[in-house]
Amino acid sequence: MTIQQLSLLMALQGQDPYRQRLIALLSDDLDFHGQSNGFKSHNFHSFPAKFPPQLPRKFINSLTAENEVVLDPMSGSGTTILEALLAHRQGIGFDIDPLALKISSVKVTPLDLNLVIETGDEILKKAKAAYKENRDELQRNLATKWDPKTKEFADYWFAPETQIELLALISEIQRIVHPPLREFFELAFSAIIITKSGGVSLALDLAHTRPHKAKRIITKSGEIIEGEKSGCDELFTKIVRSAFDEFEKRYKNNLDGLIISAPKNISARILYGNAESLSLSDNSIDLIVTSPPYASNAIDYMRAHKFSLVWLGYPIDDLGKKRKLYIGAESTGNVKFENMPAFTETLLHRLEKADNKKSIVVRRYYSEITRVLREMYRVLKPGKAAIVVVGSSVIRGMDTETQNCFADIGKSIGFEVPQIGVRNLDRNKRMLPASSKVNVDSQIQQRMHQEFVIGYYKP
Ligand SMILES: C[S@@+](CC[C@H](N)C(=O)[O-])C[C@H]1O[C@@H](n2cnc3c(N)ncnc32)[C@H](O)[C@@H]1O
Repeated sequence: MTIQQLSLLMALQGQDPYRQRLIALLSDDLDFHGQSNGFKSHNFHSFPAKFPPQLPRKFINSLTAENEVVLDPMSGSGTTILEALLAHRQGIGFDIDPLALKISSVKVTPLDLNLVIETGDEILKKAKAAYKENRDELQRNLATKWDPKTKEFADYWFAPETQIELLALISEIQRIVHPPLREFFELAFSAIIITKSGGVSLALDLAHTRPHKAKRIITKSGEIIEGEKSGCDELFTKIVRSAFDEFEKRYKNNLDGLIISAPKNISARILYGNAESLSLSDNSIDLIVTSPPYASNAIDYMRAHKFSLVWLGYPIDDLGKKRKLYIGAESTGNVKFENMPAFTETLLHRLEKADNKKSIVVRRYYSEITRVLREMYRVLKPGKAAIVVVGSSVIRGMDTETQNCFADIGKSIGFEVPQIGVRNLDRNKRMLPASSKVNVDSQIQQRMHQEFVIGYYKP
């Protein structure tokens, strides 16, 4: 018997069967490397740091029965809620990010396949016709579509030709009256912009670092519109593809993952809401599976999301304001700080000595996490579990022990933490901020290789 098996056996002794199952699951393989992720709609749109679907699936299947209620209070691209639906559980997801809400809603909303195919053909036909025949009108509309700041952003990041194609497409999409159908196509539209390679924008990368603009742009007709003068090399060259072709490819691909009909009496609700104050009754949830954002804005959702959200009608200034509301954001003005339990307080003191400014940002993060865990405790039924996936970080050479602080805070609220699982990340699969900035680099590299899966139990 290995040491791991022996310690698992000892941990299981004297535990009730539900807790035993929880401990066994958290001690199991949580890497899921080389396994298929199952349902296709998980790939509708890229999203940073999303779960491998196998992770929520494993806990949902083992810790809940059909019809029970599964919550993800920071649902991101909706992996947990889609898995809940596929397993015939009631799902409730909250998020504050407009694109996350759109991605997750589309994934769990049934649509008629023939209607989607017909509508897709129609959008493309009309958008292409407008591009050919009403170019002047599209150009005029582009001039008045945005406020000056949003327009400046769009002009910087999108080639003039691409702007006309995108406007032709989005104008047709936004004419669709049926909201779920419209959202399906808005999502395919967004997915051709937000990709690892920056999609049809002029960004070279929208997954990792701060976006960098290509210096040498080759249009679809082969014309070079910037370049020689800036003397740029291959690395900064971008061939801008046709938005029409990309859109067609994308929505046709997404047809494969479409949910044609939902299981009877099962709902998957995706709601705008702050995880720190959930509009849910006490003791109403059977299982929570979630992952909060990283501390210190390590994954800046809005940085990439604004590239498509400006096309969907959001002014750039509003998106900037929203960014400050995310858990883990960096500003520390107007923040309500919570008292921290002993282990976390000691760690924050040590961090304060190493980097005072960062320690305040992390204190903000743990204050937000305290409020989120309090809400999770309130809504969870007694005798049930919450699974929280976190990464740790290294700041000024110091491991912030995020998983231990999360456990410490949870215990101070009333949770028991019977086990913390570890998962090794498959760097090829997960879209993470592999920063190229030198000093941040080593911190992020170290933090991103492993994740911790914390099992909370409400007695
Ligand atoms: C790590 S992601 C979740 C990814 C998710 N597990 C998935 O598989 O796609 C964290 C999410 O928390 C959301 N978030 C940030 N602050 C929030 C808040 N105050 N309330 C609810 N969600 C929030 C972010 O918008 C982001 O979508």
